[in-house]
Amino acid sequence: MSGDEARKTAEGLSYLSGFGNEHSSEAVPGALPEGRNSPQRAPLGLYAEQLSGTAFTEPRAHNRRSWLYRVRPSAAHPAFTRTGNGTLRSAPFTQTVPDPNRLRWDPLPEPPAGTDFLAALWTVGGNGDVTQRAGMAVHLYHANASMERVFSDADGELLIVPERGGLLLHTEFGMLRAEPGHVALIPRGVRFRVTLLDDTARGYVCENYGAPFRLPDLGPIGANGLAAARDFQAPVAAYEDVEGPVEVVNKFCGNLWTATYGHSPLDVVAWHGNHVPYLYDLRRFNVIGSISYDHPDPSIFTVLTSPSDTPGLAGIDFVVFAPRWLVGEDTFRPPYFHRNVMSEYMGLVEGAYDAKAEGFVPGGGSLHNMMSAHGPDRETFEKASAAELSPQKVDDGLAFMFETRWPVTLTPHAVRAEHLQRGYDDVWRGLERHFRPLH
Ligand SMILES: [Fe+2]
Repeated sequence: MSGDEARKTAEGLSYLSGFGNEHSSEAVPGALPEGRNSPQRAPLGLYAEQLSGTAFTEPRAHNRRSWLYRVRPSAAHPAFTRTGNGTLRSAPFTQTVPDPNRLRWDPLPEPPAGTDFLAALWTVGGNGDVTQRAGMAVHLYHANASMERVFSDADGELLIVPERGGLLLHTEFGMLRAEPGHVALIPRGVRFRVTLLDDTARGYVCENYGAPFRLPDLGPIGANGLAAARDFQAPVAAYEDVEGPVEVVNKFCGNLWTATYGHSPLDVVAWHGNHVPYLYDLRRFNVIGSISYDHPDPSIFTVLTSPSDTPGLAGIDFVVFAPRWLVGEDTFRPPYFHRNVMSEYMGLVEGAYDAKAEGFVPGGGSLHNMMSAHGPDRETFEKASAAELSPQKVDDGLAFMFETRWPVTLTPHAVRAEHLQRGYDDVWRGLERHFRPLH
């Protein structure tokens, strides 16, 4: 698909609305069977196939599966063989020693010509173990070519956070247009191809090996607030009927495997279910904060959460720092100093972040691992401590966090990277002693 064609396609897309819904869609009228999932003969000569994102027996509220009606069943493929992993790495991350230091990176450098989304994936680090379906990885990408091949990840779901350049994601379920400010999620095992809508594309990916992301419970907040279920958008069925060689790459237990199919596997003509890709515009996030004093903890900014086996303890929280008003009286308004048992990878989609005056730039990232002490930099502290506390709109940035229960261990290339900032600790240097004992 040419760039112009892709942009035209992207602009014309429509979506289904709602998070976790039992959606259904057919690209050809009559392709979806009625009243049953697997009739003796599926309509229009299609093959019926179930894709399970959770075990068959998980509670109904959390069960994820979809039924796909396709030109050929997924089982019709030749053997996969190993191919190079490039700069993509997976848990367990054992090649470096977990680092207690505060770390920060500038954006990835320009990629070589012809780098597609898959080749661009550059792993910062992660935790857990792909074979145990526990933990996560943080990846960056900087691509300058559209994928010709198709990719799927058996190891986890992919939460894509574009920072620069639009993406047209052609999935088995249809197409999504993800622009900076959006997040797109590709569920575990779903095949997709990424077409660039601009010359280059840059961003972040959280690979979630654990339980699928869901909306957080709202407790006393009530029935509304944070990310609204209706603002999540799923694709409508869109298939390609392509005969001829198509490379399909499968990430399985940390390694990439490739096979050349005789047809495109993006051949799903109709589907129904709730294991589906989706899109969310972070600017739709309903930000809740204090209207008296102090900040709530940043968990109040959680968009999506991947729960662990321990109630209230997330494997990953995906958190957004979206435009908001600060009105707290007698309150230090930037995010407070703290040490956290959870580990925090932060990225910036645009603008600036209110705890860091400089050095944290769009496309860059910071890692504050378990119990590392962090908070506003010196300049931000001095300014905020003296600021007049009139209502203030924070609207010059869109930052996010992948917050995870285990420390993030880095890949060797993230440790050695030229774009790893040396001297990040200096932002807290010179925080002056103000203590004046009364006695
Ligand atoms: Fe923090």
